Amino acid sequence: MPRVVLFQPEIPPNTGNVARTCAATASELHLIEPLGFSLEDRYLRRAGLDYWPLVQLHRHRDGDAFLAEWGRLGGRLVALSARASGDYGQFRFEPSDWLLFGRESDGLPEELLERADARLTIPMEVSGQHGQPGVRSLNLSVAVGVVLFEALRQLRQPISSGNAASDSVG
Ligand SMILES: C[S@@+](CC[C@H](N)C(=O)[O-])C[C@H]1O[C@@H](n2cnc3c(N)ncnc32)[C@H](O)[C@@H]1O
Repeated sequence: MPRVVLFQPEIPPNTGNVARTCAATASELHLIEPLGFSLEDRYLRRAGLDYWPLVQLHRHRDGDAFLAEWGRLGGRLVALSARASGDYGQFRFEPSDWLLFGRESDGLPEELLERADARLTIPMEVSGQHGQPGVRSLNLSVAVGVVLFEALRQLRQPISSGNAASDSVG
């Protein structure tokens, strides 16, 4: 199952929502510290509701510690950025991928973007190019949901013919 990695998240409810999504999909959640909040934060806890015990949470003390763990376990590092050029919808995800998301204020640092095996974006209709006003990026937890569910859709095991038959009987 792809892993979700948040680089130095700052806003508690965003991480709470991501944690809930990870719990629901049995996806590991990796947090690269320092965080902009305490893991005891009540807004974080509230956004994750009572699903926290289901979250497979991994903490890394900084970017280097994360890179060391990634190097040890292997898999592709797939960075998500509103300014990347690769379309996430055209990408073929693999179960061992690490889906890396940036912090709310300024995204991912260049160093991590350069280390990534792929840099993907979620295309936006109104992205404010050529000096025009527009939307610079999506909310972090929305971006995680979009990409993680696309990866899982691609990787899902086909439903066996037995199940398909019983579904259609109603
Ligand atoms: C609120 S955004 C960060 C915006 C930040 N001001 C910046 O300049 O990158 C937080 C994270 O969500 C993800 N994200 C948001 N919109 C995205 C998009 N359209 N495509 C890919 N990732 C996106 C990225 O990982 C981003 O670093």
